[in-house]
Amino acid sequence: MLNIENVMVIGGGIMGRGIAYAAAAGGYRVSLYDISTDVLNQAEAEIAGFFQGAVQRNKLDAAKAERAKAAITYTTALEEDAKKADFVIEAVPEKMDIKRNVFEQLDRYTKADVMLATNTSTMSPTEIGSYTSKPEKVIAMHFFNPVPKMKLVEIVRGLETKDETAAATEKVARQMGKETVVVNEFPGFVTSRMSSLVGNEAFHMLMEGVGTPEEIDRAIELGLNYPMGPFKLGDLVGLDTRLRNLEYLHETLGERFRPSPLLRKYVQANRLGRKTGKGVYDYTKGENDT
Ligand SMILES: NC(=O)c1ccc[n+]([C@@H]2O[C@H](COP(=O)([O-])OP(=O)(O)OC[C@H]3O[C@@H](n4cnc5c(N)ncnc54)[C@H](O)[C@@H]3O)[C@@H](O)[C@H]2O)c1
Repeated sequence: MLNIENVMVIGGGIMGRGIAYAAAAGGYRVSLYDISTDVLNQAEAEIAGFFQGAVQRNKLDAAKAERAKAAITYTTALEEDAKKADFVIEAVPEKMDIKRNVFEQLDRYTKADVMLATNTSTMSPTEIGSYTSKPEKVIAMHFFNPVPKMKLVEIVRGLETKDETAAATEKVARQMGKETVVVNEFPGFVTSRMSSLVGNEAFHMLMEGVGTPEEIDRAIELGLNYPMGPFKLGDLVGLDTRLRNLEYLHETLGERFRPSPLLRKYVQANRLGRKTGKGVYDYTKGENDT
């Protein structure tokens, strides 16, 4: 089996920077690639904060944190670093044309025995693999937000993914300090499918006047023992992302995923959640900032 030392992360946004941090903390040499130098500068600052937090919480000792931080390089040169990579994790926006373009380039530049993982939340690793000449090496590696804190990586095999690719991916995830489940591809995998359904149902309840967002969230948190109610989670994930996921699941799995008209209205109003300051809750006054 390929000895994995160099991990390349494609996309330095919310997820990519958390993935780069976890890979470096796990002992890999990491190259974080993005098309934007501004994003890379922000990523570097945020990653420094992740390491500082880990040291303060006694998760990493200071010397190890310094070494791991220094093991991350930031680049806008795809070809050069892709050639050296043993394992690539893609975290670019959830749009197939962008992912396709990235995987076609990775296919050209990476070595023959590289493994290529996508952090897609809902898309098909089988389709993404088909844009490369090595679909047996392509797999989905679904991390959760915020990556430094969330334990699970949902590993999803495409139709052509080989056993050794799945085994190597599990090993990489564990080395990054994560727990794994390995599942077969079907739209939405396990977690996005279930979470989309619960999130959508919460909007139906709100539309029907069953309760306020606070009451519905509280009922789900305390009665069903969810750590976070569906509206708080939706505002964190982004209501536009939630809507896009539901549209995809509606198209692929049918009626039960038809997006709530109220969710659509929030997105039309640009109330997308924490990232725009307002979603179901209002974050501009600071009172919901937990
Ligand atoms: N945000 C979440 O909660 C979450 C959770 C699990 C999975 N995901 C998945 O992770 C992926 C990334 O999501 P995100 O929330 O980090 O998005 P994001 O918008 O925060 O980051 C995407 C980054 O990709 C960069 N980018 C765009 N085109 C690029 C290209 N061609 N090459 C390299 N970089 C490029 C952008 O500059 C941006 O920095 C998506 O597939 C998403 O579905 C997101």
